[in-house]
Amino acid sequence: MTRIVAMLLLTCLLAGCKALPPPTPLAELNLQQIEGHAVYQAKCAACHADRTNRSLRGPALRGIFKQQYLPSGAPANDERVTATIEHGRNTMPALGSSIDAADLDALLAYLHTL
Ligand code: HEC
Repeated sequence: MTRIVAMLLLTCLLAGCKALPPPTPLAELNLQQIEGHAVYQAKCAACHADRTNRSLRGPALRGIFKQQYLPSGAPANDERVTATIEHGRNTMPALGSSIDAADLDALLAYLHTL
């Protein structure tokens, strides 16, 4: 029994267990984050899950800023995520022209709650 537990722990360590803290509940978001959630629903939700790890057309964005790297291996910071949104990435379309600066700020604030 102890050996099984030890094996499981080892597998977990080697695979890099990702026990991320859960996203902030929607009811606890501040005004800017609520606006960001609306932008997310309009511009991102069709391709990205925000509250599950399920891949849609793109990778899930749950915990996006709680990990060190984005799925591509780029650092998970505002600058890289903004560049992805503005210029797109492979099959992800560039959305820069359809999101204004205030909406982008709100969207980033929301993404930080995931
Ligand atoms: C039409 C589908 C689509 C929409 C809409 C979309 N994405 Fe994506 N997104 C993708 C796909 C596909 C990828 C994977 C691109 C790749 O690396 O090949 C991706 C990748 C990403 C990544 C990871 C980039 C990396 O470096 O790994 C981020 C962050 C992201 N999207 C954020 C967003 C945000 C925020 C929005 C809303 C403003 C959005 N996406 C809208 C399809 C979409």
